[in-house]
Amino acid sequence: MTERRPIRLIVNGRAHEVSLPPNTTLLTALRDLGCTDAKNGCEQGECGACAVLLDGEPMNSCMILAWQADGARITTNAGLGTLERPHPIQEAFADAGAIQCGFCTSGMVIATKALLDRNPDPTEAEIRDALSGNLCRCTGYGQIAAAVHLAAERLRNLPSWSASSASEDGQEPAFKKRVLASDDVTGEGGRS
Ligand code: FES
Ligand code: FES
Repeated sequence: MTERRPIRLIVNGRAHEVSLPPNTTLLTALRDLGCTDAKNGCEQGECGACAVLLDGEPMNSCMILAWQADGARITTNAGLGTLERPHPIQEAFADAGAIQCGFCTSGMVIATKALLDRNPDPTEAEIRDALSGNLCRCTGYGQIAAAVHLAAERLRNLPSWSASSASEDGQEPAFKKRVLASDDVTGEGGRS
C-alpha cells in the first residue's frame, strides 16, 4: 500500500491538513482542494498554466510534489484578488485585452506578479523573458506584454496596493478609482 503522509498546505492564506501519497503533485492537490484556477495544461512543465507562487517564488505546480510544499505559503491567481477586488495585474489583463479563453491567464498573472515584485519597471524584453515559460494559444503575446506594462505602471503609482487594502464598504478599489479619475495612468482619459 502506498504510504500517505499528513501535510499542511497553506493556500491563499488558508491552511489545509491533507494526507497524501508521495507521488501526488502540488497541482493535483490544489485542484482537489478546489483551487481550479491552477490549470492542468500539460503536466510536463511546458505551458505555465499551473503556475503558483511558493513562498513568493513562481513554480509550475505540476512539477512539484505536494509533500515538497508542506508548510509553504502557496498563492494562486485567486489569492491575489477577486472579481469584486481584482488585483491591478488582473484588471490590467482585462483592460489590455490579454484574455480570450482565459486558460493561460492564471499562470500569466502569477508570472507577472513574480516579475513585478522583483522588477517594478521591466523592459519589453524582460517581460517577454519572464513570461517565456507561459504559453497562450489564443490571445497573442502583444496584448499580454501590454497588460504587464499597464500593470507595472499602475502598481508604481499605487505601490501599497493589496487585496486587504481594498475598501470593505463596497466602494471601488483604490486603484480603480485612480485609474478612472486620471488621464496619466492609462493615457486614454480613463476607461468606460
Ligand atoms: S500544467 Fe504545469 S506547466 Fe503545463
Ligand atoms: S487566452 Fe486562451 S490560452 Fe491564453
